[in-house]
Amino acid sequence: PVVTPFTVKMPVPQVLQPAQTTATADIYKMVIKPAATEIIPGVATQVLTYGGQFVGPTIRAKTGRAVKIVYGNSLDMPANVHLHGGHTPATSDGHPMDLIQPGQVRLYDYPNKQQGATLWYHDHSHHMEAEHVFRGLHGFYLIDDAAEKALRLPSGAYDVPIMLRDSAFDENNELLFFGDPAERTTILANGKIKPYFQVARRKYRFRLLNASNEHVFKLNLGGETMMKIASDGGLLPAPVPVTEMVLASAERVEIVVDFARYPIGTRLELSNGSDPVLRFDVTKNAYDDSLLPATLRPLPAMPAATVNREVRMNFDLSGEAPVGLVNGLPYDPSRVDFQVKRGTTEIWNVINTDTFDIDHTFHLHLEQFRVIGRNGGPPLPQDQGRKDTVHLPPHESVQIQVTFGDYLGKYVYHCHYLEHSSIGMMAQVEIVP
Ligand code: C2O
Ligand code: CU
Repeated sequence: PVVTPFTVKMPVPQVLQPAQTTATADIYKMVIKPAATEIIPGVATQVLTYGGQFVGPTIRAKTGRAVKIVYGNSLDMPANVHLHGGHTPATSDGHPMDLIQPGQVRLYDYPNKQQGATLWYHDHSHHMEAEHVFRGLHGFYLIDDAAEKALRLPSGAYDVPIMLRDSAFDENNELLFFGDPAERTTILANGKIKPYFQVARRKYRFRLLNASNEHVFKLNLGGETMMKIASDGGLLPAPVPVTEMVLASAERVEIVVDFARYPIGTRLELSNGSDPVLRFDVTKNAYDDSLLPATLRPLPAMPAATVNREVRMNFDLSGEAPVGLVNGLPYDPSRVDFQVKRGTTEIWNVINTDTFDIDHTFHLHLEQFRVIGRNGGPPLPQDQGRKDTVHLPPHESVQIQVTFGDYLGKYVYHCHYLEHSSIGMMAQVEIVP
């Protein structure tokens, strides 16, 4: 679609209010349903939604306080919900075979025994996850904690989640899922094409998520410095000044930008390479009592690893249709590749073993890991901090270290190019006592 850039306002996804609060939990209700939304100005596009919103409502959770969400499925096909980055009991993890049938409701229980971080929720119903997420089953889930609050980072209206994702449209302006993912070149920021966002001359915290099925963003602010403060799993030890950030599918990065540096009337474009995706318009002055402390939160110490494993990800192209493989086999819910004793720290060497040039990503459910190496050398800047998803470009490998803490059961790990996981590039680990 031909859209004049910077003519629509970037919406901020609405924060969902609990249907009920108890002494220990906030209880929410959401319905999974089709809806029409305005992505292209003046045009209605059919999408799938959580709660009727194309970028689902934001859940605001607190460390140590449970969130329970009752989802009803009003679609004519099964769906489910995975909390990406969540430290979640297996029964509420949105396992790919654990579905909400049409017309049914399902309670997901999130204890939030984890530090503050930008998480997101999305569909994970096996074989359908790629299409469901592409059509709109995605939203933010933000966890705050007391230590983070004490840092006085920008908050409230100045703490803004921004979901970036690709899209493509057919001649009727409907989302075009089938076809080459490389042609999904229309980038949406909170569901809009090249919107603007009015900011005051003060500090903002932006939580950027790449919710594309298959897309690596290289984000810049026209050469201006952004202070990177967090990765997938929460705060970095200290802010890192950056002018460009690489963000693969499902990764998150948080930045603080101080617009007080710029006079009213300044316009700054957030671009993916040379393609602007969003414009910040500095329109007014504002009081700013937020801080950007020089130290944020130390990363937790990593216990010594006692187990080493290898994870190979590639396609089998020998048949009619490509099949995704992990360690030589496509996903099979009855198969457990690794049994991990609870409390164990492990090093996984994750390798893109395709012999042709194709990207993968690696995502592990349940635990945040740390990237300790890339291709046997040091990690890249985008590998810093607590991570649950990492980019695996052609012919590369990443070395991760992870501790499997408390929960037992079966969890998946997979390529987060959802077209790849949906055709098999997924496997299971089981945590046992
Ligand atoms: Cu974001 Cu297994 O998923
Ligand atoms: Cu892949």
